[in-house]
Amino acid sequence: MQRPSDDFPLLAARTRSPSLVYLDSAATSQKPRAVLEAMDAFLRTANANVHRGVYRLAEEATRRYHEAREKVRAFLNAPRAYNHDGAPTTIVFTKNATEALNLVAWSYGLQALSPGDEILVTRMEHHSNFVPWQLVAARTGAGLAIVDPEPDGTLSLERFRRSVSERTKIVALCHVSNVLGTVNSVREVADLAHAAGAVVVVDGAQSAPHLPVDVQALGCDFFAASGHKMLGPTGIGILYGREALLSAMPPFLAGGGMIREVRDRSSTWNDLPYKFEAGTPPIAEAVGLAAAVDYLAAFGMDRIRERVSALVSLAWDGLSRIPGVSLHGPPPDRRAGLVSFSLDGVHAHDLAHILDEEGIAIRAGHHCAQPLHAWLGVPATPRASFHIYNDEEDVDRLLAALGKVRDVFHAAR
Ligand SMILES: Cc1ncc(COP(=O)(O)O)c(C=O)c1O
Repeated sequence: MQRPSDDFPLLAARTRSPSLVYLDSAATSQKPRAVLEAMDAFLRTANANVHRGVYRLAEEATRRYHEAREKVRAFLNAPRAYNHDGAPTTIVFTKNATEALNLVAWSYGLQALSPGDEILVTRMEHHSNFVPWQLVAARTGAGLAIVDPEPDGTLSLERFRRSVSERTKIVALCHVSNVLGTVNSVREVADLAHAAGAVVVVDGAQSAPHLPVDVQALGCDFFAASGHKMLGPTGIGILYGREALLSAMPPFLAGGGMIREVRDRSSTWNDLPYKFEAGTPPIAEAVGLAAAVDYLAAFGMDRIRERVSALVSLAWDGLSRIPGVSLHGPPPDRRAGLVSFSLDGVHAHDLAHILDEEGIAIRAGHHCAQPLHAWLGVPATPRASFHIYNDEEDVDRLLAALGKVRDVFHAAR
Protein backbone atom coordinates (compact mmCIF):
# COMPACT_ATOMS: atom_id res chain seq x y z
CA MET A 1 0.00 0.00 0.00
CA GLN A 2 1.28 3.46 -0.94
CA ARG A 3 2.03 5.54 2.15
CA PRO A 4 2.55 9.32 2.20
CA SER A 5 6.13 8.75 3.38
CA ASP A 6 6.87 6.91 0.10
CA ASP A 7 6.92 10.33 -1.60
CA PHE A 8 9.81 11.42 0.64
CA PRO A 9 13.07 9.81 -0.51
CA LEU A 10 14.87 10.28 2.81
CA LEU A 11 12.09 8.44 4.63
CA ALA A 12 11.34 5.91 1.91
CA ALA A 13 15.00 4.80 1.71
CA ARG A 14 14.59 2.71 4.87
CA THR A 15 18.35 2.12 4.92
CA ARG A 16 18.84 2.92 8.58
CA SER A 17 18.86 0.45 11.37
CA PRO A 18 16.84 0.83 13.45
CA SER A 19 14.57 2.43 10.89
CA LEU A 20 14.09 6.17 11.18
CA VAL A 21 11.06 7.71 12.86
CA TYR A 22 11.33 11.39 12.02
CA LEU A 23 9.50 13.48 14.60
CA ASP A 24 11.22 16.84 14.16
CA SER A 25 9.19 18.51 11.44
CA ALA A 26 8.69 21.64 13.53
CA ALA A 27 12.44 22.22 13.15
CA THR A 28 12.45 21.34 9.47
CA SER A 29 10.28 19.14 7.30
CA GLN A 30 11.41 16.40 4.96
CA LYS A 31 11.08 17.09 1.23
CA PRO A 32 8.89 15.22 -1.23
CA ARG A 33 10.36 13.94 -4.49
CA ALA A 34 8.36 16.60 -6.37
CA VAL A 35 10.35 19.35 -4.65
CA LEU A 36 13.73 17.71 -5.21
CA GLU A 37 12.91 17.06 -8.86
CA ALA A 38 11.60 20.56 -9.51
CA MET A 39 14.79 22.11 -8.13
CA ASP A 40 17.01 19.66 -9.93
CA ALA A 41 15.22 20.19 -13.24
CA PHE A 42 15.34 23.96 -12.85
CA LEU A 43 19.07 23.96 -12.12
CA ARG A 44 19.75 21.56 -14.99
CA THR A 45 17.61 23.24 -17.64
CA ALA A 46 16.54 26.76 -16.73
CA ASN A 47 19.10 28.25 -14.35
CA ALA A 48 19.94 31.93 -14.91
CA ASN A 49 19.75 35.05 -12.82
CA VAL A 50 16.36 36.76 -12.73
CA HIS A 51 15.16 40.24 -13.71
CA ARG A 52 18.38 41.43 -15.31
CA GLY A 53 18.67 39.25 -18.39
CA VAL A 54 17.33 39.97 -21.87
CA TYR A 55 18.07 36.51 -23.21
CA ARG A 56 15.51 33.71 -23.23
CA LEU A 57 17.07 31.57 -20.54
CA ALA A 58 16.96 34.50 -18.09
CA GLU A 59 13.38 35.18 -19.11
CA GLU A 60 12.48 31.58 -18.37
CA ALA A 61 14.16 31.75 -14.93
CA THR A 62 12.34 35.02 -14.22
CA ARG A 63 9.04 33.47 -15.29
CA ARG A 64 9.56 30.55 -12.92
CA TYR A 65 10.45 32.92 -10.08
CA HIS A 66 7.26 34.95 -10.74
CA GLU A 67 5.20 31.79 -10.95
CA ALA A 68 6.47 30.73 -7.51
CA ARG A 69 5.47 34.03 -5.99
CA GLU A 70 1.99 33.77 -7.47
CA LYS A 71 1.60 30.24 -6.08
CA VAL A 72 2.58 31.45 -2.64
CA ARG A 73 0.14 34.36 -2.94
CA ALA A 74 -2.68 31.99 -3.78
CA PHE A 75 -1.63 29.55 -1.02
CA LEU A 76 -1.94 32.31 1.60
CA ASN A 77 -4.90 33.94 -0.15
CA ALA A 78 -3.10 37.28 -0.22
CA PRO A 79 -4.92 39.95 -2.25
CA ARG A 80 -4.63 39.88 -6.02
CA ALA A 81 -2.48 43.01 -6.29
CA TYR A 82 0.23 43.01 -8.96
CA ASN A 83 3.04 45.31 -10.06
CA HIS A 84 3.89 46.42 -13.61
CA ASP A 85 5.31 43.05 -14.58
CA GLY A 86 2.70 40.92 -12.98
CA ALA A 87 4.38 40.06 -9.66
CA PRO A 88 2.15 40.00 -6.57
CA THR A 89 3.12 43.11 -4.60
CA THR A 90 2.38 41.74 -1.13
CA ILE A 91 4.60 38.64 -1.17
CA VAL A 92 8.29 39.19 -0.44
CA PHE A 93 10.76 36.32 -0.56
CA THR A 94 13.27 36.38 2.28
CA LYS A 95 15.86 33.93 3.57
CA ASN A 96 13.55 32.45 6.22
CA ALA A 97 10.82 33.44 8.70
CA THR A 98 13.44 35.03 10.93
CA GLU A 99 14.51 37.42 8.20
CA ALA A 100 10.88 38.20 7.37
CA LEU A 101 10.19 39.15 11.00
CA ASN A 102 13.40 41.20 11.20
CA LEU A 103 12.39 42.99 8.01
CA VAL A 104 9.14 44.09 9.67
CA ALA A 105 10.82 44.99 12.95
CA TRP A 106 13.54 47.11 11.37
CA SER A 107 11.78 48.51 8.37
CA TYR A 108 8.34 49.10 9.85
CA GLY A 109 9.07 49.20 13.60
CA LEU A 110 11.97 51.60 13.51
CA GLN A 111 9.99 54.32 11.79
CA ALA A 112 6.60 53.66 13.43
CA LEU A 113 7.75 53.68 17.06
CA SER A 114 8.59 56.57 19.37
CA PRO A 115 9.41 56.76 23.08
CA GLY A 116 6.31 55.93 25.08
CA ASP A 117 4.85 53.63 22.41
CA GLU A 118 4.50 49.95 23.13
CA ILE A 119 5.12 46.70 21.30
CA LEU A 120 3.02 43.83 22.60
CA VAL A 121 4.31 40.29 22.18
CA THR A 122 3.36 37.01 23.82
CA ARG A 123 5.53 34.88 26.05
CA MET A 124 5.10 31.96 23.69
CA GLU A 125 7.06 33.62 20.86
CA HIS A 126 10.02 32.01 19.18
CA HIS A 127 13.11 34.21 19.66
CA SER A 128 12.64 35.29 16.02
CA ASN A 129 9.49 37.15 16.99
CA PHE A 130 10.83 38.33 20.34
CA VAL A 131 14.46 39.45 20.11
CA PRO A 132 14.00 41.74 17.06
CA TRP A 133 11.32 43.57 19.05
CA GLN A 134 13.63 43.89 22.05
CA LEU A 135 16.25 45.48 19.80
CA VAL A 136 13.79 47.81 18.09
CA ALA A 137 12.29 48.79 21.45
CA ALA A 138 15.76 49.65 22.78
CA ARG A 139 16.56 51.66 19.65
CA THR A 140 13.31 53.65 19.58
CA GLY A 141 12.59 54.05 23.29
CA ALA A 142 9.34 52.11 22.92
CA GLY A 143 8.30 49.69 25.66
CA LEU A 144 7.99 45.92 25.22
CA ALA A 145 4.98 44.38 26.94
CA ILE A 146 4.53 40.62 27.22
CA VAL A 147 1.24 38.76 27.39
CA ASP A 148 1.54 35.56 29.42
CA PRO A 149 -0.34 32.42 28.44
CA GLU A 150 -3.00 30.98 30.72
CA PRO A 151 -2.00 27.94 32.80
CA ASP A 152 -3.37 25.66 30.05
CA GLY A 153 -1.05 27.22 27.46
CA THR A 154 -3.68 29.21 25.57
CA LEU A 155 -3.87 32.96 25.18
CA SER A 156 -6.76 34.75 26.85
CA LEU A 157 -8.47 37.39 24.75
CA GLU A 158 -9.47 39.12 27.96
CA ARG A 159 -5.82 39.38 28.97
CA PHE A 160 -5.03 40.78 25.52
CA ARG A 161 -7.85 43.30 25.84
CA ARG A 162 -6.40 44.50 29.14
CA SER A 163 -2.89 44.67 27.67
CA VAL A 164 -3.72 46.67 24.53
CA SER A 165 -3.92 50.45 24.93
CA GLU A 166 -3.61 53.55 22.81
CA ARG A 167 0.15 53.24 23.38
CA THR A 168 0.22 49.87 21.58
CA LYS A 169 1.56 50.31 18.06
CA ILE A 170 2.54 46.74 17.18
CA VAL A 171 1.12 43.41 18.31
CA ALA A 172 3.35 40.46 17.39
CA LEU A 173 2.21 36.89 17.98
CA CYS A 174 2.62 33.40 16.63
CA HIS A 175 -0.24 31.66 14.87
CA VAL A 176 0.92 28.35 16.33
CA SER A 177 3.38 28.05 19.24
CA ASN A 178 6.42 25.92 18.42
CA VAL A 179 6.52 24.61 22.01
CA LEU A 180 2.95 24.55 23.31
CA GLY A 181 1.39 23.78 19.94
CA THR A 182 -1.37 26.26 20.75
CA VAL A 183 -3.34 27.59 17.78
CA ASN A 184 -3.94 31.23 18.62
CA SER A 185 -7.08 33.17 17.77
CA VAL A 186 -5.31 35.56 15.46
CA ARG A 187 -8.46 37.11 14.02
CA GLU A 188 -9.79 38.11 17.42
CA VAL A 189 -6.43 39.49 18.52
CA ALA A 190 -6.13 41.39 15.22
CA ASP A 191 -9.56 42.96 15.74
CA LEU A 192 -8.58 44.09 19.25
CA ALA A 193 -5.24 45.44 18.04
CA HIS A 194 -6.73 47.26 15.06
CA ALA A 195 -9.38 48.87 17.25
CA ALA A 196 -6.48 50.37 19.23
CA GLY A 197 -4.71 51.46 16.03
CA ALA A 198 -1.92 48.87 16.21
CA VAL A 199 -0.61 46.69 13.38
CA VAL A 200 -0.49 42.93 13.74
CA VAL A 201 2.55 40.83 12.90
CA VAL A 202 1.90 37.10 12.74
CA ASP A 203 4.64 34.50 12.91
CA GLY A 204 3.19 31.72 10.79
CA ALA A 205 6.29 29.49 10.77
CA GLN A 206 4.37 26.65 12.48
CA SER A 207 0.93 27.26 10.98
CA ALA A 208 1.63 27.57 7.25
CA PRO A 209 2.92 23.96 7.10
CA HIS A 210 -0.17 22.52 8.80
CA LEU A 211 -3.29 24.66 8.60
CA PRO A 212 -5.18 26.34 5.81
CA VAL A 213 -3.92 29.95 6.06
CA ASP A 214 -5.89 32.88 4.69
CA VAL A 215 -4.09 36.12 5.54
CA GLN A 216 -7.15 38.18 4.65
CA ALA A 217 -9.43 36.15 6.92
CA LEU A 218 -6.82 36.31 9.70
CA GLY A 219 -6.89 40.10 9.35
CA CYS A 220 -3.15 40.40 9.96
CA ASP A 221 -0.93 43.13 8.55
CA PHE A 222 2.16 40.97 8.22
CA PHE A 223 2.59 37.19 8.09
CA ALA A 224 5.93 35.35 8.07
CA ALA A 225 6.73 31.73 7.18
CA SER A 226 9.70 29.50 6.33
CA GLY A 227 9.78 27.39 3.17
CA HIS A 228 11.78 24.60 4.80
CA LYS A 229 9.06 23.80 7.34
CA MET A 230 6.48 23.59 4.51
CA LEU A 231 8.11 20.65 2.70
CA GLY A 232 10.17 23.16 0.69
CA PRO A 233 13.89 23.88 0.71
CA THR A 234 15.93 25.86 3.20
CA GLY A 235 17.06 29.33 2.14
CA ILE A 236 13.67 30.79 1.35
CA GLY A 237 11.12 32.47 3.58
CA ILE A 238 7.92 34.36 2.96
CA LEU A 239 6.74 37.72 4.13
CA TYR A 240 3.20 38.79 3.37
CA GLY A 241 2.52 42.46 4.10
CA ARG A 242 -0.37 44.77 3.45
CA GLU A 243 0.46 46.78 0.36
CA ALA A 244 -0.10 50.20 1.92
CA LEU A 245 2.30 49.37 4.75
CA LEU A 246 4.97 47.83 2.53
CA SER A 247 4.77 50.83 0.17
CA ALA A 248 5.43 53.28 2.97
CA MET A 249 8.29 51.30 4.49
CA PRO A 250 11.94 52.02 3.69
CA PRO A 251 14.06 49.15 2.33
CA PHE A 252 15.52 46.70 4.83
CA LEU A 253 18.61 45.56 2.91
CA ALA A 254 20.17 47.51 0.06
CA GLY A 255 21.99 46.55 -3.12
CA GLY A 256 21.12 45.24 -6.55
CA GLY A 257 17.54 44.62 -7.61
CA MET A 258 15.88 46.84 -5.02
CA ILE A 259 16.71 50.22 -6.57
CA ARG A 260 15.10 52.21 -9.36
CA GLU A 261 17.86 54.79 -9.74
CA VAL A 262 21.12 55.34 -7.91
CA ARG A 263 22.73 58.79 -7.87
CA ASP A 264 25.87 59.87 -6.04
CA ARG A 265 24.20 60.75 -2.77
CA SER A 266 20.78 59.13 -2.89
CA SER A 267 18.72 56.44 -4.54
CA THR A 268 15.11 55.63 -5.31
CA TRP A 269 13.46 52.29 -4.81
CA ASN A 270 12.08 49.64 -7.09
CA ASP A 271 8.42 48.63 -7.03
CA LEU A 272 7.03 46.16 -4.53
CA PRO A 273 7.98 43.46 -3.83
CA TYR A 274 11.48 44.01 -5.31
CA LYS A 275 12.17 46.92 -2.95
CA PHE A 276 12.64 44.30 -0.23
CA GLU A 277 14.63 41.78 -2.26
CA ALA A 278 18.19 43.09 -2.40
CA GLY A 279 20.69 40.97 -4.29
CA THR A 280 20.16 37.72 -6.17
CA PRO A 281 17.08 36.11 -4.68
CA PRO A 282 16.68 32.40 -3.82
CA ILE A 283 15.61 31.38 -7.34
CA ALA A 284 15.95 27.59 -7.32
CA GLU A 285 14.57 27.66 -3.77
CA ALA A 286 11.51 29.57 -5.00
CA VAL A 287 10.99 26.89 -7.64
CA GLY A 288 11.24 24.26 -4.89
CA LEU A 289 8.85 26.17 -2.67
CA ALA A 290 6.36 26.41 -5.54
CA ALA A 291 6.50 22.62 -5.89
CA ALA A 292 6.03 22.26 -2.12
CA VAL A 293 3.01 24.54 -2.15
CA ASP A 294 1.56 22.54 -5.05
CA TYR A 295 2.17 19.35 -3.10
CA LEU A 296 0.53 20.69 0.07
CA ALA A 297 -2.43 22.05 -1.90
CA ALA A 298 -2.90 18.78 -3.78
CA PHE A 299 -2.85 16.82 -0.51
CA GLY A 300 -5.27 19.40 0.88
CA MET A 301 -4.56 21.58 3.89
CA ASP A 302 -7.73 20.39 5.61
CA ARG A 303 -6.66 16.81 5.13
CA ILE A 304 -3.20 17.62 6.45
CA ARG A 305 -4.69 19.24 9.52
CA GLU A 306 -6.90 16.19 10.13
CA ARG A 307 -4.15 13.65 9.61
CA VAL A 308 -1.64 15.45 11.81
CA SER A 309 -4.29 16.18 14.40
CA ALA A 310 -5.11 12.47 14.68
CA LEU A 311 -1.42 11.72 15.31
CA VAL A 312 -1.15 14.51 17.87
CA SER A 313 -4.21 13.10 19.70
CA LEU A 314 -2.74 9.62 19.67
CA ALA A 315 0.58 10.89 21.03
CA TRP A 316 -1.16 13.05 23.63
CA ASP A 317 -3.29 10.14 24.89
CA GLY A 318 -0.37 7.74 24.98
CA LEU A 319 2.00 10.20 26.67
CA SER A 320 -0.55 11.11 29.30
CA ARG A 321 -0.76 7.43 30.26
CA ILE A 322 2.99 7.16 30.93
CA PRO A 323 3.58 7.78 34.64
CA GLY A 324 5.90 10.73 35.23
CA VAL A 325 5.10 12.45 31.92
CA SER A 326 3.71 15.97 32.02
CA LEU A 327 2.42 17.56 28.84
CA HIS A 328 2.86 21.23 28.05
CA GLY A 329 0.14 23.23 26.37
CA PRO A 330 -3.52 22.74 25.55
CA PRO A 331 -5.31 19.50 24.61
CA PRO A 332 -5.19 18.25 21.02
CA ASP A 333 -8.30 20.08 19.82
CA ARG A 334 -6.59 23.43 20.46
CA ARG A 335 -3.16 22.61 19.11
CA ALA A 336 -1.43 21.79 15.86
CA GLY A 337 1.42 19.59 14.79
CA LEU A 338 3.47 18.92 17.91
CA VAL A 339 3.63 17.80 21.52
CA SER A 340 6.19 18.98 24.10
CA PHE A 341 6.44 17.21 27.41
CA SER A 342 8.67 16.47 30.38
CA LEU A 343 9.53 13.12 31.90
CA ASP A 344 10.05 13.29 35.62
CA GLY A 345 13.72 12.94 36.57
CA VAL A 346 15.01 12.65 32.99
CA HIS A 347 16.73 15.54 31.27
CA ALA A 348 15.31 16.39 27.86
CA HIS A 349 18.66 15.88 26.15
CA ASP A 350 19.26 12.47 27.76
CA LEU A 351 15.82 11.44 26.66
CA ALA A 352 16.39 12.56 23.07
CA HIS A 353 19.74 10.73 22.97
CA ILE A 354 18.19 7.49 24.14
CA LEU A 355 15.36 7.81 21.65
CA ASP A 356 17.91 8.36 18.90
CA GLU A 357 19.40 4.98 19.70
CA GLU A 358 15.95 3.57 18.94
CA GLY A 359 15.90 5.43 15.61
CA ILE A 360 13.53 8.12 16.83
CA ALA A 361 14.47 11.71 16.01
CA ILE A 362 12.92 14.25 18.32
CA ARG A 363 14.22 17.66 19.38
CA ALA A 364 15.14 18.58 22.91
CA GLY A 365 16.04 22.03 24.18
CA HIS A 366 14.47 25.41 24.69
CA HIS A 367 13.32 25.47 21.05
CA CYS A 368 14.37 29.13 20.78
CA ALA A 369 11.72 30.05 23.32
CA GLN A 370 13.59 30.76 26.54
CA PRO A 371 11.08 33.23 28.03
CA LEU A 372 8.40 30.55 27.62
CA HIS A 373 10.59 27.87 29.23
CA ALA A 374 11.25 30.22 32.17
CA TRP A 375 7.48 30.44 32.54
CA LEU A 376 7.13 26.64 32.25
CA GLY A 377 9.80 26.31 34.96
CA VAL A 378 11.99 23.93 32.95
CA PRO A 379 15.16 24.77 31.02
CA ALA A 380 14.39 22.37 28.18
CA THR A 381 11.66 20.11 26.85
CA PRO A 382 11.58 17.15 24.50
CA ARG A 383 9.29 17.83 21.53
CA ALA A 384 7.77 15.42 19.03
CA SER A 385 6.45 17.09 15.90
CA PHE A 386 4.62 15.59 12.97
CA HIS A 387 3.83 16.01 9.29
CA ILE A 388 1.93 14.11 6.67
CA TYR A 389 4.60 11.45 6.25
CA ASN A 390 4.17 10.29 9.85
CA ASP A 391 1.75 7.56 10.79
CA GLU A 392 0.38 5.67 13.79
CA GLU A 393 3.34 3.30 13.79
CA ASP A 394 5.66 6.28 14.40
CA VAL A 395 3.61 7.30 17.43
CA ASP A 396 3.62 3.70 18.71
CA ARG A 397 7.41 3.55 18.39
CA LEU A 398 7.75 6.84 20.27
CA LEU A 399 5.49 5.68 23.09
CA ALA A 400 7.13 2.28 23.39
CA ALA A 401 10.61 3.85 23.50
CA LEU A 402 9.52 6.39 26.10
CA GLY A 403 8.08 3.65 28.24
CA LYS A 404 11.51 1.99 28.08
CA VAL A 405 13.33 5.20 28.99
CA ARG A 406 11.05 5.65 31.94
CA ASP A 407 11.61 2.10 33.16
CA VAL A 408 15.40 2.39 32.87
CA PHE A 409 15.57 5.69 34.73
CA HIS A 410 13.11 4.73 37.41
CA ALA A 411 14.74 1.36 38.00
CA ALA A 412 18.07 3.20 38.48
CA ARG A 413 16.65 5.38 41.26
C1 LIG B 1 7.29 29.69 15.63
C2 LIG B 1 8.58 29.87 14.90
N1 LIG B 1 8.91 31.07 14.45
C3 LIG B 1 10.03 31.30 13.77
C4 LIG B 1 10.91 30.29 13.51
C5 LIG B 1 12.16 30.59 12.76
O1 LIG B 1 12.21 29.92 11.56
P1 LIG B 1 13.53 30.00 10.69
O2 LIG B 1 14.64 29.46 11.55
O3 LIG B 1 13.24 29.16 9.51
O4 LIG B 1 13.73 31.43 10.36
C6 LIG B 1 10.62 29.00 13.96
C7 LIG B 1 11.57 27.90 13.74
O5 LIG B 1 11.62 26.93 14.45
C8 LIG B 1 9.41 28.79 14.67
O6 LIG B 1 9.09 27.58 15.13
